[in-house]
Amino acid sequence: MKARNVMEDIAKKYLDEILITRFDVCKCAQCREDMIAYTLSRIPPRYVTTESGTLQTIMEQQKVEHASEVLKELVNAIKVVSQNPHRKIVDDENKAYEMLMRQIKLDRGVDFSQYRDRVLKRRIALRMRACNVNSYSEYLQVLIHNSAEYEELFEVLTINVSSFFRDQQVWDALKTRIFPGIIEQKKQKDYKKIHIWSAGCAGGEEPYSLAILLYELLEREGDEMKAEITATDIDKESIRDAEKGLYDRGVLKNVSSYYLKRFFIPIKDKYLVAPQIKSLVKFKQHDLIQGIPIAGVDLVICRNVFIYFNRSLQEHLIMKFYNALVLSGYFVMGNSENMLGEARQLFSVVDGDCRIFQKIKIAT
Ligand SMILES: C[S@@+](CC[C@H](N)C(=O)[O-])C[C@H]1O[C@@H](n2cnc3c(N)ncnc32)[C@H](O)[C@@H]1O
Repeated sequence: MKARNVMEDIAKKYLDEILITRFDVCKCAQCREDMIAYTLSRIPPRYVTTESGTLQTIMEQQKVEHASEVLKELVNAIKVVSQNPHRKIVDDENKAYEMLMRQIKLDRGVDFSQYRDRVLKRRIALRMRACNVNSYSEYLQVLIHNSAEYEELFEVLTINVSSFFRDQQVWDALKTRIFPGIIEQKKQKDYKKIHIWSAGCAGGEEPYSLAILLYELLEREGDEMKAEITATDIDKESIRDAEKGLYDRGVLKNVSSYYLKRFFIPIKDKYLVAPQIKSLVKFKQHDLIQGIPIAGVDLVICRNVFIYFNRSLQEHLIMKFYNALVLSGYFVMGNSENMLGEARQLFSVVDGDCRIFQKIKIAT
C-alpha cells in the first residue's frame, strides 16, 4: 500500500482558506504549488496509508495536532513565493490599478487613463509608501475612507515644478523674434490684441515670464496694443498659488536684476509679481484632456506637460492646440518633447532647438 504525506493535504486545505482573503498575492497554480512545496520542506512529513484508518479521520486528527505549525509555515511560504510571483499577481494588480483609476475619475472627474502608466505608477507608489500600504486595492480603500489623501495624491501626480524664464534660449527667441513678428503682423492687420495660452502653467512662473516680455515690448507701442495671457492648469492648488504671484528666490534665479527690480515687489524673503504684470494674466483651472480648448490664440506654450501622456494623447493634444491657434500662430513645446503624427505636416519648424513651430495650413 502506498504511503501518503498527510501534511500535504492539510497544507493544501489551509492554503485555500488563507488565500480567499489575500487579494494582494498571486494565486496561480504554479505559485500555489511553490507555496505548498516550501511549506512541506519545513515541516516533518507524516506518512499514512489508507489502511491506517480512513484518510479523512486521520487528516482531522493531524490537522488539530499540527495546525499552528502548518499555518506558520504557510504564512512564511506565501510571503517568500509572493516576492517572485509567477503571473497572476500582475493581472490582479493591473485590475486593481484600473479600478483605482476608475474611482479617481468617478470621485474627482479627472481621467488619468491615458497618462503614461510608468510615470503614474512611480508617483502612486510614493503615496502608497507614505500610507504604509502595499497594493492598489489597499490604497483605493485609503482614498475611499480618507478624502484628504486625494489632495496628497494629486500633488504627486501633477508634479508642478517650474521656474521663471526656464530654458533661457527659448525666451531669447520669443523676445527677439517671435513676439516682434506677432506684433508686426497685428499692426499690419490693424488688430489690437495679442492672445497667448500658457497650458500646464504650474505655479504661474511661465505665464508671468511671458507677461514680462510682452509688457516690455508693448510699452513701445504705447496704448495701441494689448496682450492677454490665459494660463491654465489642472491642479487647483497651483492655480491658487499662481494667482497670488508670490515666489521664493529659487524660482527667480533666471530673472535679471533689472526685471527683478522693475517687476517684483520684495516681501520679507519672497517676491510678489507687480500689478502691471499680473493684470496681463488670467488664470483658470482647466484639464487639457477633457476641457474645451481656448480659441483664437496667437501663441500656445505647453512645455513639460506631455511627459505624462501616452503618444496617442500627445498627438490628440497637439491637434487641439493646432485648432486653438490662428493661422500663422506659434506653438512652443518643451525641449524634450516632439511634434508627432499628422501635425508634422501642419506646422513648420521655426526653431528646432527651442521647439518653436508655426501653424501653416488649415487642416481639411
Ligand atoms: C512640470 S509642470 C510644467 C510647468 C511649465 N509649463 C514649465 O515647463 O515650467 C507640468 C504641469 O502640467 C500640469 N498638468 C498635468 N496634467 C494636466 C492636464 N491634464 N491638464 C492641464 N494641466 C496638466 C501639472 O499640474 C503641472 O503643473
